[in-house]
Amino acid sequence: MTTDQQHIIDTVATRVRSTLEGEGSGHDWWHILRVWNMAKHLCEIERADFFVVELAALLHDIADWKFHDGDDTVGPRVAREILSEHKVDSVVADHVATIIATMSFKGAGVPTPMETLEGKIVQDADRLDAIGAIGIARTFAYGGHKNREIYNPEEKPTLHDSKEGYSKNVSHTINHFYEKLLLLKDRMNTNAAKSIAQGRHQFMEEYLERFFGEWEGKE
Ligand code: NI
Repeated sequence: MTTDQQHIIDTVATRVRSTLEGEGSGHDWWHILRVWNMAKHLCEIERADFFVVELAALLHDIADWKFHDGDDTVGPRVAREILSEHKVDSVVADHVATIIATMSFKGAGVPTPMETLEGKIVQDADRLDAIGAIGIARTFAYGGHKNREIYNPEEKPTLHDSKEGYSKNVSHTINHFYEKLLLLKDRMNTNAAKSIAQGRHQFMEEYLERFFGEWEGKE
């Protein structure tokens, strides 16, 4: 990476931090920092383009579609504006915006393929932060943010086959494990992410077993 590129990364990081600091739904600055660090780790193993990977990791939740009535054009647009302020060349800006536009999970039955290695890396890093101990914490934080019940045994999970169905979902938080989190380990792109996902997935299975045990008063 050149000094100019490093300077852009640092400036964008500061901007993202001030925008997302204190955010309460699990899409805060610390989520971005974890995704950024994980993306750098995967980038090193996969020998991908650091500049693209880091920019996409930093900007991926700058305006998440889940918070804009399902409008998934806001995130890439805001990212583009920031990149053009920093005179990032259009090939890089297009690449970053495309990654941000296509990386989100949009329902169990909706494929979200990533075309480039850089996109696969950022998608993996974001998905790794959605599972395991941190994923569990973020899921309940998001559920609370959306006024969802923790669990309601009368509502079964739905495996959504459209982004609309998935985004309109108002079900309790435990269903989210079955509708998204437990499906993520099989949707990782890179081998390194697949192997990290194993342990995090296992922990969620154990957590749910314990949760239901306590729910039934057996533990
Ligand atoms: Ni994210």
